[in-house]
Amino acid sequence: MWTIFDVLYHLIEPLCFLLISASFIPRTILNLILNTQFSTFSPSSFKDAWFATFWKTTGPQVRENATPNVKPLVSLAHGVVLDIGPGSGEWVSLFDKKKVDKIYGVEPNRDHHEGLRRRIKEAGCEQNRFLYRAFR
Ligand SMILES: C[S@@+](CC[C@H](N)C(=O)[O-])C[C@H]1O[C@@H](n2cnc3c(N)ncnc32)[C@H](O)[C@@H]1O
Repeated sequence: MWTIFDVLYHLIEPLCFLLISASFIPRTILNLILNTQFSTFSPSSFKDAWFATFWKTTGPQVRENATPNVKPLVSLAHGVVLDIGPGSGEWVSLFDKKKVDKIYGVEPNRDHHEGLRRRIKEAGCEQNRFLYRAFR
């Protein structure tokens, strides 16, 4: 049975998440200026840079909270796996290398690719046939 506090929490939580993501806009702009990426600026590239900046901090926290639900699901994966939107690879290490032959990770946001490649390497997923592809 839900209480009024549960209802309020579920209404306010998404708003808080939006406010937290908005707080990453100044940092994103600063990064773009420092990396002189304004020459290739577009609304779409800004959105990608903003989300990658936000997810670099938020992704590990989301992973910590969601692990009890996600871990049993990911451990069921076997054979050839399609991971749509792996982001910066928060979950790569959970795949069971004995059961998974190959993973195709389809991540359109290039700003995630560096982190994704790092996590693939850390998880030892480049060896054998366990391969992650990050492409647009
Ligand atoms: C909320 S993030 C989750 C990232 C990761 N799965 C995790 O849990 O840490 C959603 C991801 O989906 C990607 N995405 C958005 N649209 C997509 C599409 N059409 N095809 C594949 N990935 C997409 C985004 O770039 C982003 O990295």
